[in-house]
Amino acid sequence: MESKATAGGDAVIKIGDKTVNLPILKGTVGPDVVDIRKLYGEADVFTYDPAFTSTASCESQITYIDGDAGVLLYRGYPIDQLAEGSSFLEVCYLLLHGELPNAAQFVEFERTITYHTMLHEQFDRFFGTFRRDAHPMAIMVGAVGSLSAFYHDSINIHDPKQREISAHRMIAKMPTIAARAFKYAVGQPFVYPRNELGYAENFLRMCFAVPAEDYKVNQILARAMDRIFILHADHEQNASTSTVRLAGSSGANPFACIAAGIACLWGPSHGGANEEALNMLREIGTVDRIPEYVQGVKDRRYRLMGFGHRVYKNYDPRAKVMQRTAHEVLEVLGKRDDPLMKVALELEHIALNDPYFVERKLYPNIDFYSGITLNAMGFPSEMFTVLFALARTVGWIAQWKEMIEDPSQKIGRPRQIHTGPTERAFVPIEKRG
Ligand code: CMC
Repeated sequence: MESKATAGGDAVIKIGDKTVNLPILKGTVGPDVVDIRKLYGEADVFTYDPAFTSTASCESQITYIDGDAGVLLYRGYPIDQLAEGSSFLEVCYLLLHGELPNAAQFVEFERTITYHTMLHEQFDRFFGTFRRDAHPMAIMVGAVGSLSAFYHDSINIHDPKQREISAHRMIAKMPTIAARAFKYAVGQPFVYPRNELGYAENFLRMCFAVPAEDYKVNQILARAMDRIFILHADHEQNASTSTVRLAGSSGANPFACIAAGIACLWGPSHGGANEEALNMLREIGTVDRIPEYVQGVKDRRYRLMGFGHRVYKNYDPRAKVMQRTAHEVLEVLGKRDDPLMKVALELEHIALNDPYFVERKLYPNIDFYSGITLNAMGFPSEMFTVLFALARTVGWIAQWKEMIEDPSQKIGRPRQIHTGPTERAFVPIEKRG
C-alpha cells in the first residue's frame, strides 16, 4: 500500500532539557496524527496509551469513522447507501479491492466465492469432536484455525495469488462453517451449500433446511440477512481487527490470524454484546420494569448492553439501519407486536432523554437491535456473535492484506512501563521462608 499521508508541520515536545520535533501527518480526512516513531530514539521515553484511546496503530485506506458525526464509510461510501443499494458480495469486493465491481467483475467474483463454499469432507468429522453443548463461537475459533491444516496451498503470505485464494476461501467457507456450528448445536444433519442460491440465501438454507423438509428462503429475510452482513463487514481498527493485524504482523498464516480475530470478537464488550443485549431485554421483560433497570445502570450495578461505543459519541449509523431492518423482519414474520421490540424502543427513548446517558454520549450501537432481529429470524442468541464473525471476516482479511502489502510493515511490538520488581538475586527453594 502506498502511503497517502501528507506532511502537516511539526509538533515540538520538551522532555527534560531535550526538545524533540515530531512530524505531524495528515490523512485524507480525520484528525491529524503526531508521528512519534523516533521519540524513543531521540528522547529515551515511551508514550503510554494502554487501551489505544489516542493512538493510530497503522495507516489504512479501507474504513473511516467520524464518531462525533455518526459517520461510517467503507472506501468512502456511506454505510446507509451501501446497505440500501448494494449486496454483501459487492461490499466484499469493495473492501478487498478498493472499488465497487462493474457487472463483469461482480459476476466473476460471485462465481469464485460460490465455487469455494464447500468444505473438505474430512473437515466435517472435526465438528464431531466438540461436546454437543459447545458454544458455537468455540467451534468457530477451532474450525477457522484448522482451515490452515486443510489448505496448505494458500498459506504462503508472500505470494499474492495465495493471499487472494485464502481470502476467497474464507469469505466463501465462513457461512458453511457457521451453519455447521449451528446445526451441530441443535443436533441436526449438516446441509450442503447450493450454487444457485445467493450468499445470504444459501446461509439461511444451510441453517434452517432439514432432510425432512426443504427451506424456502423468504426474499425479505434473505435481504435483511445480507444487509446485516453489510453492516458488520468492517469497522476500522477495533479490538478484533487490531488482533488480526497484530497476529498477522509476525507472518502467521491468514486462517490462524482470522481465528485470533474471532477469539477477540467473542468478548461481551465487543461482538458478544449482541447476545448480552438480547439477554438484557429478556431480563427486563416488560416496559414497566425499565425505570428500575435504568436505575441499576445509574447505580453502576450493570451496563446497558448495546449502548455506548469507544468511537461513536453520536447515534451509531449502523444502529439506524439495523432498527429499520428489525421492523421489516418483524413485519414479514407477523411479529409486529414483539414484546422485546417494545422494550427496546421504550428503553432507547428513555435513555436518549436521560441526562446520565446524554452527558456520557451513550447512544444505541449496532448490537442493540441486531439481537431482536436475529432472534425473530430463528437464531438462538449463541449464534449472534457467530454471524458477526462471518460478516467481519472480509474486513479482517482486507485489513490483513493491506498490512501485508505495505512494504514498511514490521512485527507489532508494544512496550510497557515496568512497575514490577527490579533485579534481585535468585534464592534456592530450601532457603526461602
Ligand atoms: N451503560 C452504562 N454506562 C456506560 C455504558 C453502558 N453501556 N458504556 C459506557 N458507560 C459509561 C461508563 O460507566 C463511563 O461513565 P463514567 O465516566 O461516569 O465512569 C462512561 O460511560 C465512559 O465509559 P467507558 O467504559 O470509559 O467507555 P469505553 O469507550 O471504554 O467503552 C464500550 C466502550 C462499548 C466498551 C462501552 O460503552 C460498553 O461497555 N458498552 C456495552 C457493551 C456494548 O454494547 N458493546 C458493543 C460495542 S458496538 C459493537 C462492537 O464494535 O463490537
